[in-house]
This record gives sequence, structure tokens and C-alpha cells, in this order.
Amino acid sequence: MSEDARNIVGPLMLAPLAGYTDKAFRMVARSLGADGAVTEMVSAEGLARGGEKTEGLLERYPGEDRLVMQIFAPSADPVGRCMERLLSHDPSVIDINCGCPVPKVVKTGAGSALMRNPKEIGNIVRTIKSAVAIPVSVKFRLGWDSSSINYIEFAEEAVKAGAGIITLHARTRAQGYSGVADRSAFRILAEHFRGDDVLIYGSGDIFTPEDARSLIEDYGLYGVMFARGAIGNPFIFRQAREYMEKGTFTVPSVQERVETALWHLSLAVSFYGENIACREMRKQLMAYIKGIQGANRAKAGIGRAATLNEMKEVLLSLI
Ligand SMILES: Cc1cc2nc3c(=O)[nH]c(=O)nc-3n(C[C@H](O)[C@H](O)[C@H](O)COP(=O)(O)O)c2cc1C
Repeated sequence: MSEDARNIVGPLMLAPLAGYTDKAFRMVARSLGADGAVTEMVSAEGLARGGEKTEGLLERYPGEDRLVMQIFAPSADPVGRCMERLLSHDPSVIDINCGCPVPKVVKTGAGSALMRNPKEIGNIVRTIKSAVAIPVSVKFRLGWDSSSINYIEFAEEAVKAGAGIITLHARTRAQGYSGVADRSAFRILAEHFRGDDVLIYGSGDIFTPEDARSLIEDYGLYGVMFARGAIGNPFIFRQAREYMEKGTFTVPSVQERVETALWHLSLAVSFYGENIACREMRKQLMAYIKGIQGANRAKAGIGRAATLNEMKEVLLSLI
């Protein structure tokens, strides 16, 4: 299994980020060295019902391979019902979201609520495995809260059912995205499954090339997922690769940062049209220019700009 999985996913992945990891962001990240990427989370129920917007999240950019498609569901039932639609998009890997802390998702029993129901993750994985031969992956947290840490038991259920890839976001649901990710859990998880046929990824506070190398080389992980660390900074993939190969890495110039932001914006315009792209790209463009001299003025300009030309003018004023 993991031999197959290794041919599909590599150590440096773009994490799933709802509202961010659309095909434009994935194309930029892959061109800068990401080994693969995960879609935004997609509702299994929405997919089963044939929601057009839901299906749109699964579209690829031309030529995109190594695409992990992530679904969320409270149980195996909607997963079984969505398989036909999901498989029509030809996923390289199917990933199950067991980490989302958002109340709207959790109250349905999906996302991190599955951490309280480890048996169900087994049922979900088996449902997918019975429908398709591609690797199944599970992304989960340490537990629901600090008094119910159960990531080892949870991962065991998933792996026993046939998951070949697991990703731990080393925070509890109660922590949301704050607090510090508990790296010691990566070592414990890697140790627990040592010798087993499963690829283990770490997620949580992975912001630098040093973080990536250390987690892979010292903590025994197969790979890492860059999440907030890749927003406005897709160069992190190139840097992590350079650092793992040579022990040093290059820092992008202001010009490269601005030009990459412009390319990302132009991809979004070509995929979604000018109106949607200009609205949706604001937060990402602001992240690209963070810390550059004149960024505060430019951020105000990005906030006001409504057309591609206005956005371009603001960005180009920085170089
Ligand atoms: C805005 C945002 C959206 C996210 N969307 C998803 C998602 O759709 N599916 C998922 O499994 N995790 C999602 N995550 C969690 C990330 O993939 C990652 O596990 C988490 O941010 C921890 O990594 P970091 O501390 O390096 O950001 C999201 C996180 C953020 C901040």
C-alpha cells in the first residue's frame, strides 16, 4: 500500500485549507515544489446531492496530478452515497476530515466530532476501500479536548480499516488553531506505527524549512503538511526541499513575491472570473506582501481595489 501511496504523495504537501487551497493556489504551490496538495474540504452529503458548488471544489487545474480530495461526513452513509460523484473526479487519494472544529460541521457529527466516535472512522474507511483501490487517508487531531486525548486509538481504527496515510494535526478540537501544536505526539505516533505500512504526516505550526526537516528527520514522520505557513508563502516548499538537500535555502526577493502574487491572482481570474477572483484573493494578496516596505499602504489599496488592473497597480507599486 504505502509503495503505491509514495508514488502519489511525497513528503512536502500543501494542507487542506477551506477558502484557500483552490486550484489556483494548488497550481502555484506545486510549481514551487509541493509534492502534492489537498483540496478544500467537501461535504459528502453535498456531493451525494449533486451540489454544483461542491463539485466545483474538486475541479483540477489543467494537468494537475497527485490531488488528494478531502471529504467530511458524520458517518459512512453519506460517504457511500457520494462515492460515484467523487470517483467521477478521479481522486489520487481520498482523505477524510476528522479535524474541522467549526460548530456548523461539528454539530452534524462530522469533522473533529468523529474523534469522539472512533468506530465510525473505521466504517467510513471501509466504505471507501470497498468502492475503490486508491489510498485512503485520514486527517485527525489529538482528541476532542485535553481530557480526551485519543489519537493513537483513533489512528489504529483508521489503519486497521485500511487507511494507508494518516495526518495528525497536533492540537485538540478545543484548541482550534490556537495554542502550540504538541510535537511530541508526532514522535509517539511514528513510534507506534513503526514497521507498519502507513505513511504518517504531521500538521500544526509548521512554518519554516527547519520545522519540516526536523519533523521528518528527527521525529520519524514521512512528511509534513504546510498550512498557514504556505498562505502568501508558497516559497516554503522550495525552501524546505533546498534545506533538506543542501542545508541552506534561498529567500525570495520582493520582486519574486510580488510577481508570484500577481501570477496567483491572474490564475484565479482565469479560473473564476475577475469579480470573484478580486474579492476572494484579497486575503491571500495581503499575506504575500506582509513585511514588505509600503505593505500597509498597499493593503489599504488591495482592500479598495475591485478590478484586476487596480490590484495590479497596487502590487506593482511595491517593486
Ligand atoms: C483557514 C483554514 C482553513 C482550514 N481548512 C481545513 C480543511 O478544509 N480541512 C482540513 O483538514 N483542515 C483544514 N485546516 C487545518 C489545516 O489543514 C492545518 O491542519 C492546521 O491549520 C494546522 O496547521 P498550521 O498550524 O501549520 O496552520 C484549515 C486551517 C485554516 C487556518
